Amino acid sequence: MLLIVIGIARKKSQNTTNMNDKIKTLNEKLALAKLGGGQSRIDKQHQKKKLTARERVMYLLDEGSFEEIGALVTHRTKSFGMDKQVFYGDGVVTGYGTVNGKLIYVFAQDFTVFGGSLSETHAEKICKIMDMAVNVGAPIIGLNDSGGARIQEGVRSLAGYADIFYRNVQASGVIPQISAIIGPCAGGAVYSPAMTDFTLMVQDTSYMFVTGPNVVKTVTNEEVTSEELGGASVHSSKSGVAHKTSTNDVECLEDIKKLLSYLPQSNKRKAEDLPFELKDEVRESLTTIVPENPNKPYDMHQVIEGIIDENSFYEIHKDYAENIIVGFARLGGKSVGIVANQPMFLAGVLDVDSSKKAARFVRFCDCFNIPLLVLEDVPGFLPGTDQEWNGIIVNGAKLLYAFSEATVPRITVITRKAYGGAYDVMNSKHIGADMNFAWPNAEIAVMGAKGAAEIIFKREISKAEDKDAKWKEKEAEYAELFANPYSAAERGFVDDVILPQHTRRKLIKAFGMLENKEIAKPNRKHGNIPL
Ligand code: HXC
Repeated sequence: MLLIVIGIARKKSQNTTNMNDKIKTLNEKLALAKLGGGQSRIDKQHQKKKLTARERVMYLLDEGSFEEIGALVTHRTKSFGMDKQVFYGDGVVTGYGTVNGKLIYVFAQDFTVFGGSLSETHAEKICKIMDMAVNVGAPIIGLNDSGGARIQEGVRSLAGYADIFYRNVQASGVIPQISAIIGPCAGGAVYSPAMTDFTLMVQDTSYMFVTGPNVVKTVTNEEVTSEELGGASVHSSKSGVAHKTSTNDVECLEDIKKLLSYLPQSNKRKAEDLPFELKDEVRESLTTIVPENPNKPYDMHQVIEGIIDENSFYEIHKDYAENIIVGFARLGGKSVGIVANQPMFLAGVLDVDSSKKAARFVRFCDCFNIPLLVLEDVPGFLPGTDQEWNGIIVNGAKLLYAFSEATVPRITVITRKAYGGAYDVMNSKHIGADMNFAWPNAEIAVMGAKGAAEIIFKREISKAEDKDAKWKEKEAEYAELFANPYSAAERGFVDDVILPQHTRRKLIKAFGMLENKEIAKPNRKHGNIPL
């Protein structure tokens, strides 16, 4: 009997020892996984003023909420001595957690492991969480810091990228997809972000290009720096590839958190409302923003700020196509998307870039049940060879198409000019807007009175003794008839002419009224937006 007891006791201690060894082995592996490509490469990352992949994830997510998936995954490549360079996690940290209490999925590429390059297994890890994000219905955030396809793996890494691209497209319009570019990103590492909804960049440390400066030099003999080729300032002002830029990693991660606060978890949900109680909501500041002289510019940001909940504007594409402003805001606690002409730049005309910028934003809002507010002061489309040769016809049509197909609640306020085709395009009643308001100073016409008088009274003016006086007389005649909101209001194209100071209240009430709007879509596979 005693022998049996001793036997059991020995076995128990052996088991405990075994278990302790196993726990030790696991902890060693996990500690290695946490080190990524090793301390010296981590130090290099820090010297470049960049956080590591893991530090970024920890900063982004609510404290203690991150659950890692696939920490022990390794690559399968043997050639080029790769079998001697194996790192747990294989260059990407993946998992889920919460941001401000809401579930998100995240992947963060680890530049310390083969420059964050994408191997077959690295891609499998990303695909795994993308699939979960779609199945569960929660946003996916990609923190990209990668040299693109892992060169040592050849077609297997290209296949991995294609698997991700395919999922980007399947997830588009189903869950919000946000990409941060937080390092030098090339090849597939920029193509996947391009298919997501928003791309954020960090100044001076992040670059986006299909191929880097060395390849450019070899192929085209052009000498260019990384910054000139694909720095944050290039992509935020020239190409429009980046929607937002920040000065460092932390600011970029904060921007992502803020952006998420305006978005629903998926296309099946609405963005969360903040608590709000309707009071008088009169905003006197709105009465003095638009100058008496209709040709004088003013800053539409002031109108936006005057209407929305305090400090709630989150601008997208701030430095790109500045003649139109787009961004999210809160209005009476609700998330809304704002599209507004900006008279401060090019008098707020619609051109190629502003049409593309606004169309993309409108489509995002429509995908994710975010109501649209349009603030209109537009003198028309920008004329000229530059615009025509760059396809203003097809690009302007993008915005017209985007508004026309949007089924979310849509309201327009005409703050001054609504001229020509741009009147139709900017969320007019005719293309499905729900409520259209105009301020008393609004001018809704085919064109400005001066130009109109020159065309339709050309003969009369040319015959007049005092041509200038005649022109002025005819201009005044046209202005009297059309440079006001009443002709449109009489036909119901404008639902109400409202005082600027009452705009906020009107909008809060109208959006509330439209809350449960539903529109059946035509039975078709999908439309064919003029891309
Ligand atoms: C494997 C890579 C790599 C890659 C970088 N590394 N890119 N390893 N595959 N694609 C490794 C380097 O060998 C180095 O390893 C470490 O990452 C850091 O790289 P550096 O060059 O020292 O860093 P830096 O000077 O900051 O330059 C970063 C870079 C540059 C601009 C990203 O590395 C670069 O140009 N890489 C190649 C980019 C590229 O052409 N990728 C293929 C794209 S094709 P050690 O051991 O020294 O730390 C593609 C196709 C997809 O993606 C399909 C698209 C439709």
